[in-house]
Amino acid sequence: MKKNFLNLGKQPLANSFLPTNSKKILSKEFFYNLNVAFDTKTFLVSVAKPVNPEFQYTDQYAHRASESITMRNSFSKIANKLNKKFSPKIVMEIGSNDGVFIRNFEKRKIIAVEPCKNLARLTAGKYKTYPDFWTKSLAKKIFRKSKSADVIFSANTISHIPDLKQTFEAIESSLSPQGVLVIEDPSLLSVIKNNSYDQFYDEHVYVFSAIAISNVIRKSNLRLFDAEKIKTHGGSLRYYICKKNAKYKTTNNLNKILTEEKKAKLNQFKTYKKFSKKVKQSKNNLINIFKKLKKRNKKIISYGATYKSSTVFNYCNIGTKYIDYVTDTTLNKQGKFTPGKHIPIISPEKGMNESVDYAFLGAWNFKKEILKKEKEFIKRGGKFISHVPSVKIISS
Ligand code: TYD
Repeated sequence: MKKNFLNLGKQPLANSFLPTNSKKILSKEFFYNLNVAFDTKTFLVSVAKPVNPEFQYTDQYAHRASESITMRNSFSKIANKLNKKFSPKIVMEIGSNDGVFIRNFEKRKIIAVEPCKNLARLTAGKYKTYPDFWTKSLAKKIFRKSKSADVIFSANTISHIPDLKQTFEAIESSLSPQGVLVIEDPSLLSVIKNNSYDQFYDEHVYVFSAIAISNVIRKSNLRLFDAEKIKTHGGSLRYYICKKNAKYKTTNNLNKILTEEKKAKLNQFKTYKKFSKKVKQSKNNLINIFKKLKKRNKKIISYGATYKSSTVFNYCNIGTKYIDYVTDTTLNKQGKFTPGKHIPIISPEKGMNESVDYAFLGAWNFKKEILKKEKEFIKRGGKFISHVPSVKIISS
């Protein structure tokens, strides 16, 4: 049974940056109710009523995974590791984005699946790319003959797909007998520990734990045999999954992670009720900081037009009254307006100037990378504001 525990209010699609802030465009903006629920049987945490993926993964999709050094490094590292560990002949990626992972492999080994047509076009010239949603019928089409995948990789994608049953069944039928599915997604334990409620938005239909993943995949004759903690997206888990009867033994690392999750009571509803209270507190604290700074006539901007910050701004009702603009390195976000709150987005070159007093860390998951990059800003007295793990001003 699904039980709601967190209401983040009316939210727009986190990816729906607006081309103008004209009345006509704003009047057509789509909003939905963002409630988050806990399944008392599988312990899976999910958006209570997911949005139709056809609205989300269009040919306008803005996110480019290769924009960040952190992500580029992370993907090249895991690609090398998978090559060494499993020597795959065929590697398939589900959600290949702009090719940041597959570019680490020889062309003949790769099958890419990417439903956003604008992104699929970026890799189609070099790699076999299917511009489609991952479904059973697509799996059948790809693996029509005897071919199967030795490694299926999917980062920050499986948690975006509402129909997990079909997703894992299609994976099970595409894997070779000793094939391995490797998935990466933000970790629920990190979300709870960091109070990072902004990991919930329309695209993050699920925030997985190892406990929930092992329960869910069991129905598709798959088995979780290993997991590791990784630093991306504010703390993620990488899961290693195989067919039920494959040779892989359960690792100590997985057992440790499962024990830690049980200790944190991720399998109990009361944990989420507590979390929900802390989220409300975080909202109040953040609004208070903004109010105080504005009273002192401080100029506040936001750093990184992230999907996560869309949840924060819409939940906390923070708009242009507090934030002058958002800076982002992504070219196709610049010149647009943030979803729901319609804050203009400009380049960091333009935006990170002498007049800025405070920058809200919308991209808090890249805090280290950003603080290193913005040494000058900090040196001249500029300060960052973050709500993770608790609301505070960062001055060095
Ligand atoms: P991302 O981490 O993908 O977060 P989300 O999934 O919540 O959107 O997005 C990071 C965004 O921040 C991306 O649009 C690029 C931007 N960014 C900057 O503008 N400057 C930076 O130095 C970094 C690291 C990211």
